[in-house]
Amino acid sequence: MTGVKPPTILIFDSGVGGLTVFREIVNALPGAAYVYVADDAGFPYGDKPEDALIERILNVIGAAIAAHKPDLVVVACNTASTLALTQLRAKFPVPFVGTVPAIKPACAQSQSKRIAVLGTQATVSREYTRALIREFATGCDVGMVGSSHLATYAEAELSGNPAADDAIKTEIAPCFVDADGRRTDTVVLACTHYPLLTARFRAIAPWPVEWLDPAPAIARRVADLIGPRPPSGTPSPPRMIFTSDRAPSPALTKALAAYGF
Ligand code: DGL
Repeated sequence: MTGVKPPTILIFDSGVGGLTVFREIVNALPGAAYVYVADDAGFPYGDKPEDALIERILNVIGAAIAAHKPDLVVVACNTASTLALTQLRAKFPVPFVGTVPAIKPACAQSQSKRIAVLGTQATVSREYTRALIREFATGCDVGMVGSSHLATYAEAELSGNPAADDAIKTEIAPCFVDADGRRTDTVVLACTHYPLLTARFRAIAPWPVEWLDPAPAIARRVADLIGPRPPSGTPSPPRMIFTSDRAPSPALTKALAAYGF
């Protein structure tokens, strides 16, 4: 089946965190054409007022849809998805796949029925996240842990400036609860930046837990929606767009090259 145009998939995040979702989608759909938009001019999203952030997300994604005409958009950012998915779907006819905290699978797989949701302050305080807990966390104790710094540490890690162990430890410490004979056994990575730090988390954690990264499930959802659509030849290299127009540092350029950019 040559001559069938490969699908174009737009991946969006406030920064490089969406790469953790992108890499899983590329594994599932290596023949697609990819455009990655990092709204680094607006980073971090976690501390922005909601109304201004909704407007910004609609504008940036709207411009990217107009420029690249994607077949599907992945909002590879929990902070943006929990805030603006509804408005995005209402405004643009293209299908959207969001990333929202994986509370349902975490509660289902937890043995101790004590989990933590680690995300930006914005994500953990959103009604969207609270509704997920009401719906899917019956019988499970859920600790909400908002971090102001981890996304920035993840950006720095990828750029070759890793944060100190103590700084990371302070951010993840509230995830670990040992009470009533039950310890936290699962931590939901509810920010797409955080899987960039999983090796650091494992090394620093006071006891082993499952660090639940929803990216493989998101990739399966994207593959289902795109359906069988064979590419017409060698896939084009992915494109990376930074809204700041900055030139990435040599270390970041090298890190991006490992993702195929
Ligand atoms: N990667 C984003 C997320 O999944 C957030 C980082 C930010 O604060 O901009 O929530």
